[in-house]
Amino acid sequence: MTGVVTVKNFQMSFAGKEVIKDLSFTVKKGEIFGLLGSNGSGKTTTIRALLNLYQPSGGELLINGKAFDPAGDFVVGYLPEERGLYKKETVIDVMTYFGKLKGLKDPKEWSLKYLNRVELPDVANMAIGKMSQGMQQKVQIGITIMGNPKLLILDEPTKGFDPVNRKLLMDIIEELHEKGTTIVMITHYMDEVERLCDRALLLKDGKARAYGTIKNIRKEFDGKTLDQIFVKVYGEKADAQ
Ligand SMILES: Nc1ncnc2c1ncn2[C@@H]1O[C@H](COP(=O)(O)OP(=O)(O)OP(=O)(O)O)[C@@H](O)[C@H]1O
Ligand SMILES: [Mg+2]
Repeated sequence: MTGVVTVKNFQMSFAGKEVIKDLSFTVKKGEIFGLLGSNGSGKTTTIRALLNLYQPSGGELLINGKAFDPAGDFVVGYLPEERGLYKKETVIDVMTYFGKLKGLKDPKEWSLKYLNRVELPDVANMAIGKMSQGMQQKVQIGITIMGNPKLLILDEPTKGFDPVNRKLLMDIIEELHEKGTTIVMITHYMDEVERLCDRALLLKDGKARAYGTIKNIRKEFDGKTLDQIFVKVYGEKADAQ
């Protein structure tokens, strides 16, 4: 079965240390897919290999049936785990610059509208470095979603957000989903997964510990909530009898 994302028998080792043993999954067109797992389980590594930022030790990782090509027609928006934007330039200058690169018709207008949407109506002329982390993250998310990417890959998009902003961002992700965007998101917040994700994969010991619709994953664990499942799966070693 091909999907927007196809990962087949992916393996990854760093200097002899095996991080991903054997991982296969697909992300279907139009769905929100949750890539879940404890710290260090290999989520970011999988995304980096998918985007050709890492050379896999084995297997195949495809976007829309091909190895990822940043210059290709299949536009991918990527919010990396490590954040970073120009600091001295103003918000509007940086957003307009990226908007132009991404071929927006009116990048300035798009950016002002977005800033309003994320409740930052007055920051357009502020230097990015003078904004709080969460504010900067909102700007970076705006840049990520410019130009209607067909696939959005979000590595912990709500990290560090307060509950109000987390909900705001979930609303935005839902709107993009409704427009047909395929989304892969990494998150440690199980309420986000319950609300947003169609399907998910729990990565453990370099393999998929659970994979499928949220409903089926919950069924597999006797109807437990995702929070309870997470604690059971990743607390297993500590609790081993
Ligand atoms: N470039 C690298 N060189 C060596 N080891 C690496 C490299 N990138 C990742 N690793 C190792 O791979 C493992 C998985 O890291 P990764 O960043 O993929 O985890 P993660 O699931 O994204 O965790 P978190 O939830 O904390 O972000 C870790 O043990 C990490 O040290
Ligand atoms: Mg990570």
